Amino acid sequence: MTKPLEGIRIIDFTHVQAGPACTQLLAWFGADVIKVERPGSGDVTRNQLRDIPDADALYFTMLNSNKKSLTLDTKKPEGKEVLEKLIRESDVLVENFGPGALDRMGFSWERLNELNPKMIVASVKGFSDGHHYDDLKVYENVAQCAGGAASTTGFWDGPPTISAAALGDSNTGMHLAIGILTALLGRDKTGKGQKVAVSMQDSVLNLCRVKLRDQQRLERVGYLEEYPQYPHGEFSDVVPRGGNAGGGGQPGWVLKCKGWETDPNAYIYFTIQGHAWEPICKALGKPEWIDDPAYKTAEARQPHIFEIFKTIEGWLADKTKFEAVDILRKFDIPCAPVLTMKELANDPSLRASGTIVEVPHKKRGSYLTVGSPIKFSDLKPEVTASPLLGEHTEEVLASLGYSKQDIFNLREVKAV
Ligand code: COA
Repeated sequence: MTKPLEGIRIIDFTHVQAGPACTQLLAWFGADVIKVERPGSGDVTRNQLRDIPDADALYFTMLNSNKKSLTLDTKKPEGKEVLEKLIRESDVLVENFGPGALDRMGFSWERLNELNPKMIVASVKGFSDGHHYDDLKVYENVAQCAGGAASTTGFWDGPPTISAAALGDSNTGMHLAIGILTALLGRDKTGKGQKVAVSMQDSVLNLCRVKLRDQQRLERVGYLEEYPQYPHGEFSDVVPRGGNAGGGGQPGWVLKCKGWETDPNAYIYFTIQGHAWEPICKALGKPEWIDDPAYKTAEARQPHIFEIFKTIEGWLADKTKFEAVDILRKFDIPCAPVLTMKELANDPSLRASGTIVEVPHKKRGSYLTVGSPIKFSDLKPEVTASPLLGEHTEEVLASLGYSKQDIFNLREVKAV
């Protein structure tokens, strides 16, 4: 099967998570992704939180599958020369260095565009160009704070809270991938490359857009009816942290199931969607609630919503999270068990769909990773191992026309 991105060559000048998540996705879909790494050390994540001595860490292997690794010191003149050749023959360059690093290396957007006017240059930075913080280096949690996620996550009586989901890193990489694919389609029409830039702050904020909705509602009416603070608590002039409340207009909460006293994940998420009220009452064995004016409408339920949740917890007390969901699904009630990483790793459905994949690796044996969450009717992305440091240096240099002697010379000056 020909993969959709076959024939697209990508210089992957990325590290840590935001950039690598983007280029890994494009590699799954067939792009020839060449990861350029500093000789001797490579991407810092190769060494971070290692669980096996002398083998690349899982942080690296899980974000760099399906890629090639070329070691190149792009600060040495010999290394710059190799990079220039590669630029002339590539379609896309992706980078997520700190602000100004690429310019300092001598590869500004203007220079790259001069070397290859058809090339797309894609960048991740913490803040967008021209932002008053655009000189800052940024990691995941910093972005979550700057993008509005932290101030709106957690409980009202606790501090701003960071989500475990990589809203700043992988999410930004996914936005960048959309930008790159758009620019590639644009290039088909214009013949020209362009610069694509995504900031981590913007990407987090994009996922927090319902909180910006809430800020505007709050300013207009002074309260937010779906938040636990309503109607008994106080609202200030900023969107509060709503705990586990549902944000989309249907109240929901994380509810205790059988075994919660000893198992910290014996919970389900239960949603009280307006039109599902009748089936909910039937599922809970509370038919009298269906027409009771104190329960019948969302407005009537809201003032005592936590009492309702308590009653549901009473119903859940003798059911495991899986048993509860198996009953509730029959009534079409939106709900799910709170799943642990261990449960997800062993989930047969996720294995069968290719979302959890076991990948053989030369040094590690095999490891688990998350495969493509995007499913196609005509493409089954296959996940192959991340490259060892410099594993493809000779292959890539030979493809650029370097002889064995040239490669030896480059090694002598430690440029590769
Ligand atoms: N050969 C020679 N030098 C190389 C090189 C190579 N192959 N690859 C990188 N370098 C150099 C860079 O040119 C830079 O040099 P300079 O600062 O002297 O100009 C240097 O390595 C460090 O790069 P930098 O990206 O600033 O690394 P850092 O470890 O100090 O910062 C981040 C890491 C992630 C904080 C920073 O890269 C950043 O803010 N990136 C943008 C946002 C982002 O993606 N954050 C991470 C999300 S997971």
